[in-house]
Amino acid sequence: MTQASPTKPFLEVLSGRRQPVPPLWMMRQAGRYLPEYRDVRAKAGGFLDLCFTPELAAEVTLQPIRRFAFDAAIIFSDILVIPYALGRDVRFEAGEGPRLDPLDTPDKVGTLTSTADFTKLEPVFEALRRVRRELDPKVALIGFCGAPWTVATYMVAGQGTPDQAPARMMAYRHPDAFAEIIDTIVGNSIHYLLGQLAAGADVLQIFDTWAGVLPPREFQRWSVEPTRRIVDGVRRRVPNAKIIGFPRGAGALLPGYVEATGVDAVSIDWTAEPSMIRERVQSRVAVQGNVDPLALIAGGDALDRSIDDVLANFAGGRLIFNLGHGIQPETPIAHVEHMVKRVRSYKGPS
Ligand code: CP3
Repeated sequence: MTQASPTKPFLEVLSGRRQPVPPLWMMRQAGRYLPEYRDVRAKAGGFLDLCFTPELAAEVTLQPIRRFAFDAAIIFSDILVIPYALGRDVRFEAGEGPRLDPLDTPDKVGTLTSTADFTKLEPVFEALRRVRRELDPKVALIGFCGAPWTVATYMVAGQGTPDQAPARMMAYRHPDAFAEIIDTIVGNSIHYLLGQLAAGADVLQIFDTWAGVLPPREFQRWSVEPTRRIVDGVRRRVPNAKIIGFPRGAGALLPGYVEATGVDAVSIDWTAEPSMIRERVQSRVAVQGNVDPLALIAGGDALDRSIDDVLANFAGGRLIFNLGHGIQPETPIAHVEHMVKRVRSYKGPS
């Protein structure tokens, strides 16, 4: 096509241009709170079958865009497709969350292959190409991966844990073996993200859901440094790649994360302190967030206050409106509709 592509408000914010009404989307926006997702999910069989069937993955990616006209679509997949492509046994059992074969001794780490089988991830690239073709050109398409620390917490423990103790323990007891896991994830994530850009993603997000459990020194070594290497590795090939980081729970360590990693935007959770974020984070990069997903379930005054606080705190600068973490399955759809309306009727600072 020779037509100039229309601007995407989402990308404008990431390129340094505040929008009068902040663009919005929701983490985990394709998911179980939507009846149309549950229908496709039931048809697909397993969760990974859904991720790896391009036409179904594309369909569930587009469902929330049709319903809510969000400014960005995020490709439907999971952060655990990297361990899967590394040949680890990854299963999602109904109601139980992910299960992997634990990688919890240096001996087991010795058997880890260094290069993923990317033919296993080809369906994700094909789903991106399909979404790209169908998506309104004003809507941005987000690709993603897990940050090495968060992916490693699942690989080491073999499942989700309340405090990520198995990975923290391994990092203290066997730092060399643990570093090998991290390095393997770094290298393959760079390759995976470049593949997503080539397949049509406009933006990449790196999810570090469990960054907040690490002491500052370990945060630097296992969260910041590997994320920086991914950002550098992607930009070596695609210098203008737009990247959002989400070191959930990083708190006072956020300014250092932003400076060291070189991300274009940072996703903040609902505990973030607004003046610190404005002065030391939003002054450098765009901010994404940060309604408490439980306020979205509650609705009513609690939700209105949460929405208005996010706008009052951050809409004076570069803001992508979002939740502070993923939307939960029990969230009423009417509350999401209400939030979208309220954000879109934002009239600027009062
Ligand atoms: O945001 C989106 O809509 C895109 C899809 C997406 C999924 N997972 C789909 C999914 C994204 C971006 C993720 C990221 C992800 N996966 C993270 C980081 C972000 C976060 O929310 O913290 C993590 C830690 C995972 C690992 C994972 N996947 C867990 C712990 C679980 C089980 C818990 C749960 O929510 O059920 C999953 C499964 C999963 N990934 C589901 C979805 C829609 C639910 C499974 C189902 O539909 O049966």
